[in-house]
Amino acid sequence: AHAHIDLDPRFTIGPVQRRLFGSFVEHLGRCVYTGIYEPGHPTADEDGFRGDVLELVKELGVSAIRYPGGNFVSGYRWEDGVGPKEERPRRVDLAWHSLETNEFGLDEFARWADKAGSEVMYAVNLGTRGVQEALDVLEYSNIKEGTTLSDQRVANGAPEPHNIRMWCLGNEMDGPWQLGHVSADDYGKIAAKTASAMRQMDPTLELVACGSSKPIMPTFAEWERVVLHHTYQHVDYISAHAYYEELDGDLDSFLASGANMDEFIESLVATIDHVKAALKSDKTINISFDEWNVWYNKRWHTEDKPRNATDWHYAPRLLEDQYSVADAVVFGSLLISLLKHADRVTSASLAQLVNVIAPIMTEPGGAAWRQTIFYPFAEASRLATGEVLRLNLSSDTYETEKYGTVNRVDAIATHDAETGAAAVFLVNRGADESATVTIDLGALVDGKSVTATTLTDDDVYASNSLEAPERVVPRANEELTVEDGRLTITLPAVSWTTLTIS
Ligand code: AHR
Repeated sequence: AHAHIDLDPRFTIGPVQRRLFGSFVEHLGRCVYTGIYEPGHPTADEDGFRGDVLELVKELGVSAIRYPGGNFVSGYRWEDGVGPKEERPRRVDLAWHSLETNEFGLDEFARWADKAGSEVMYAVNLGTRGVQEALDVLEYSNIKEGTTLSDQRVANGAPEPHNIRMWCLGNEMDGPWQLGHVSADDYGKIAAKTASAMRQMDPTLELVACGSSKPIMPTFAEWERVVLHHTYQHVDYISAHAYYEELDGDLDSFLASGANMDEFIESLVATIDHVKAALKSDKTINISFDEWNVWYNKRWHTEDKPRNATDWHYAPRLLEDQYSVADAVVFGSLLISLLKHADRVTSASLAQLVNVIAPIMTEPGGAAWRQTIFYPFAEASRLATGEVLRLNLSSDTYETEKYGTVNRVDAIATHDAETGAAAVFLVNRGADESATVTIDLGALVDGKSVTATTLTDDDVYASNSLEAPERVVPRANEELTVEDGRLTITLPAVSWTTLTIS
């Protein structure tokens, strides 16, 4: 198969926002407990944070991290998680049918994020709670001192305010599974009230209204239209969530998931801009794609799970998907899709970070390792700087059951005018053959060195595990030539490639 790309630094989509490389830590399974937090672990620091995990999080290069949920947040009382640990209540978590000990809460998370070099993005509970509790947690977190709540934070060992900038107004309130699920009209009203109250405390906050929980929700687009009519003047972002998985052995469609993500984002932009036009507004709302990944959701739904009133487990093994090469290629194509829409998707959170549908896995008391999806994220986060470039890409296509005809090769590039460095991220989603890609780079390569790494395997289902943590890693791709500003590279079937020009 063949593909051709013309690349010109004059044609840009928008700046590479650091916030595109965000992630998500939910009180779910072992994401927090025995994930990022495990007092007694050989690498734990004085706060009980796992040092091996912190190192991997830094290597992954994560910007803002959404916390504490997810579905969890819709039943959460934030004040349970602050103050002396021995006095914190133990609660049932209805979202994941687990036991929540509250040993870890807002102050611990802010401290952990600081150590990880990441920003906190906080979700308030609009499922079982409302405006007052959102104001309370904002006051506790962001007011410097001199009020009962801010002084409590100081007394709890956090003298400086957490100064959280980005706030999510609830989570997936369109989903019937969500505690406190409401109609778009009801949610739009409560979100608008909460947002305007929070802005009375700090007009500079960046606020995210809940969009649909997935593109296939029957209410998708209509939900956004109604919610935005209520909230347009009060918020900066609407959220998008999407997860993909291989179903019924249909690898070809699964590999084309990025095409569906493109369509989802473009429909959402159209919906946002419809409301903008209807309201005669000159303000533009952007997208916070604050949950995205491969997730074997069907497997999770068909698993046998405790759901009775007596079985409440602490840090159970939930949603611990083990990712393959094919998953990493799909994951890479989702990253490409986000970058392609960098003019409107200005924040994104890989869901999630540790153990739960995660790039990083841990064993309690034992090792931590990188899943296959770790690599595309870490490479893009490290190398994508400057501006995202608008590519002229033509590619051979293939047919899929779910998404029709799609390009075999997809790609995106970034260019940093200050350093002259550029990066190209490519996927070959064809399962049956390699692809030869030519890229016209013009003067971009003059005097530069060009290198490439590729993540692939003869077994597309190969993955990393505790026993074989480096079974799948990116390797140098030597099948690359550059002549007169034209680069030629071969991408193996089902592969992710990162090209570095510096
Ligand atoms: O990330 C796992 C779950 O997926 C989140 O809790 C929820 O928001 C979404 O449905």
